[in-house]
Amino acid sequence: MNYPVKNFIKCLISNFILKKPVPLFISLEVTRRCNAKCPFCGYWKLREPELSVKEIKVILDEAYDLGCSIAVITGGEPLLRRDLSSILDYAKEIGLGVILLSNGYLLKDRVHDFYGYVDAVNVSIDFPDSRHDKNRGLNGLLERAVSGIKLLRALNVATNINCVVTGQHSLEDVRKILFLAKELDSQFTFSPIFITPHQYPHGSILGETLAKDEKVMKVNNWNIVKSVADMLLYYKTHGFRKTIQNSGAYLKLVRDKAAFTCFPFSFQFAVSSNGTVSAVCPASLFGSHNLGNALKQSLKDIWYSKKAEILRDKFKSCKLSESLGCYLFCVAEPSLPFTDPTSIIDHIRRGLEALR
Ligand SMILES: C[S@@+](CC[C@H](N)C(=O)[O-])C[C@H]1O[C@@H](n2cnc3c(N)ncnc32)[C@H](O)[C@@H]1O
Ligand code: SF4
Ligand code: SF4
Repeated sequence: MNYPVKNFIKCLISNFILKKPVPLFISLEVTRRCNAKCPFCGYWKLREPELSVKEIKVILDEAYDLGCSIAVITGGEPLLRRDLSSILDYAKEIGLGVILLSNGYLLKDRVHDFYGYVDAVNVSIDFPDSRHDKNRGLNGLLERAVSGIKLLRALNVATNINCVVTGQHSLEDVRKILFLAKELDSQFTFSPIFITPHQYPHGSILGETLAKDEKVMKVNNWNIVKSVADMLLYYKTHGFRKTIQNSGAYLKLVRDKAAFTCFPFSFQFAVSSNGTVSAVCPASLFGSHNLGNALKQSLKDIWYSKKAEILRDKFKSCKLSESLGCYLFCVAEPSLPFTDPTSIIDHIRRGLEALR
């Protein structure tokens, strides 16, 4: 990964020494359209306007100036945008590290358009067999996701397989995906499913889940998450340190369904497909997380606004991890360094291992 080193160091000094929030990541939704129909995600039901490439370029410039080191390009399904490569190319050109999130269906058709502009691609694989296609409502998805990863690895692009663990999973399902990741020379993360509670529906980064899907997918017995976390902790010290990206601190936190102090708007922020800026949080428990719109205000004004400061403080008292199992790896993991520096050591060790 090509980090903008100056931004990265500034971010660490500002957050941990000067105690002034500077973001590491911008999570940019380039579309909310999707070709899949995942039961735990609300995006495929939405129809929302999309930012133009010109607007996105301004947002990426502002994100870099604000101090971001990495652009996480997400959706919806980003590969549905025909102009995606111009967006990725621009993010790379201005010096940002670029991580693309995809369900993998279109990778094999599109990879040659953009592989030179990304540092890593995160591909979702939840089940090791036909349940993956069935669950996500897209025939051939698993096979296409795996061939996409093979192509990316052949082109020397780093990949990560993210597995969302639901109430339908067995330990063996997750083990098979972990072994698949290793076989493909990919990295692996797991995240327990989080279902946005109906009393906090607005502004979620995941949208709403239908009641019928919630019934099937919800983790009613935390033992499955606990055993997955224990298994990953074991494999981390038994041949999979390079593969498993979840830190030991994260795995222990999730296993124990423990309390943690959440920082969903200190290392990162989300820009939705219509320019709305919000915390990377799947429940609007403190009222709207909508902090402004990047088309109307500068990211700097939004990031340092009074409302942002107040919300940052309120998030610290959120209890939805223990009560509802909110441990999305993309939120909990970047929150941990603020309270547990060992998670940073874990990432550095894994990075060094990957370089060998
Ligand atoms: C919103 S998706 C966007 C990228 C792409 N469409 C995909 O599915 O990989 C980003 C990640 O969030 C995960 N995700 C979606 N809904 C989730 C939920 N309710 N709980 C946990 N993770 C979820 C997806 O599996 C995916 O890895
Ligand atoms: S998780 Fe990704 S693939 Fe599934 S519906 Fe949501 S955006 Fe689409
Ligand atoms: S634990 Fe964090 S991400 Fe989850 S609902 Fe609370 S503030 Fe949001």
